[in-house]
Amino acid sequence: MNDKVIKKVTVIGAGFVGSTTAYTLMTSGLVSEIVLIDINKDKAEGEVMDMNHGMPFVRPVKIYNGDYSDCKGSDIVIITAGANQKEGETRIDLVHKNTAIFKGIVGEVIKYNNDCILLVVTNPVDILTYVTYKISGFPKNKVIGSGTVLDSARFRYLIGEHTGVDPRNVHAYILGEHGDTEVATWSIANIAGIPVDKYCDECHGCKDKLSRKIIYENVKNAAYEIIKKKGATYYAVALAVRRIVEAIVRDENSILTVSSLLEGQYGIEDVCLSVPTIVNKNGIERILNVELSDEENKLLKKSGEALKSVIKTLDL
Ligand code: 2OP
Repeated sequence: MNDKVIKKVTVIGAGFVGSTTAYTLMTSGLVSEIVLIDINKDKAEGEVMDMNHGMPFVRPVKIYNGDYSDCKGSDIVIITAGANQKEGETRIDLVHKNTAIFKGIVGEVIKYNNDCILLVVTNPVDILTYVTYKISGFPKNKVIGSGTVLDSARFRYLIGEHTGVDPRNVHAYILGEHGDTEVATWSIANIAGIPVDKYCDECHGCKDKLSRKIIYENVKNAAYEIIKKKGATYYAVALAVRRIVEAIVRDENSILTVSSLLEGQYGIEDVCLSVPTIVNKNGIERILNVELSDEENKLLKKSGEALKSVIKTLDL
C-alpha cells in the first residue's frame, strides 16, 4: 500500500453485518469513501440511500452501492457476504456453502484490485480467511480475518462487568478459532498488570469470586444466545471491524487478535487463526509469540488442528 492518505473501503455484503459495518465506518470519520456491494442490488441501494440521508450529521464521506469494478482503488475490501448462522447451527456448518460463495467473490475482487488488504468477516472466518489467502494469491500480510477480536472484546467486557473496571483497561485475549474451540488465555489476563484472578482478591468488590468457567462459556456461547434472541449478531462485530480498519488506516501498530496465516508460531502451521498480532497499514505487521500456559498452548494447537481437519475437506 503506498503512503497516500487511506480513504476508500469496499464492503461486500449488505446484510446485517455488512450494512452495520458500512454505517459504523460512516460515523467513524476514518474513511472518505465507502462502496457497498451486494448481489441484491436493491438492498445495497436501499442501505446506501438510508445512510446518505444522515450525511448532514457526520463528516463528509462518499457512500455508494456499486459492483465489483468499484473495488478498484479500495485500500481495504471487507467481505461480509455469505450465509449466516441460523439457530442451532455452528459457524463450521456454513463452511461448504460459504467457501463456494467466496470462490466467486474473491475471484471477482482480484480482477479489479490486487493491491488492497482483504478483511474477511464471514463465518467460519478463520477457514474463509485461509480460503481467501489461497484463492487471492495475495501476500499473507494482506489477508486478515476479524477472528477473535470480537471474542476478546466479549471477554474483556465480561471481566470488566465483574470487576467494575473499564473494559478498555482489561487486557485479556481469546485466541484460536472464532468458534467452539477458542481459548481463554487467563494466564496473561490482567488489569494494570495485576492478574485478573488476583485483582478480585485485592478488590473484594464482587459478591462471588470470578468464575473462569462461567465467563468463558458466556464468551464462547454469546453468538448462539444472541442469535436465539434476535436472529443475528452485528453491532459488536461491526465495531470490531471498525477497530481493525482504524489500526490499518491510521497505521497504528495496534495489537489485535486478528486471524491470519500461521507458519509455525505456537507450533501451528498452514492454517489461519487468532493470536496477538501487530496490525498497521501493511495489514499483518508481526505475529507475537506470547508466553502462554502449557494448557493454553495445548488448547491452541487443538484449535488449529480442528480447523485444519475442516480445511482438508475443502477443494481448494
Ligand atoms: C459472532 O460471534 C456470529 O460470529 C458471529 O457474533
